[in-house]
Amino acid sequence: MYVCSCFGITEQQVKRHAENGACTPRQIASACKAGTDCGSCVRRIQALLGRGACPRRESADRGASVFAATDTLDEAA
Ligand code: FES
Repeated sequence: MYVCSCFGITEQQVKRHAENGACTPRQIASACKAGTDCGSCVRRIQALLGRGACPRRESADRGASVFAATDTLDEAA
């Protein structure tokens, strides 16, 4: 099912990016552009991320640093 119809991004693709370390809608946007056109999908992306799609989310919620993970993502982009 499509999450972002502007860029044809599916729920599975968003989950895969989350598994690879994208914990916020902005990081999902960096990975696949979802949410960067009309923006109507951002709330759905937030909902997906909030449902445990991102394994690092739990650490972030506990206050642990997730910056190492985002640094790695930026280098890969
Ligand atoms: S539906 Fe995702 S940016 Fe428009």
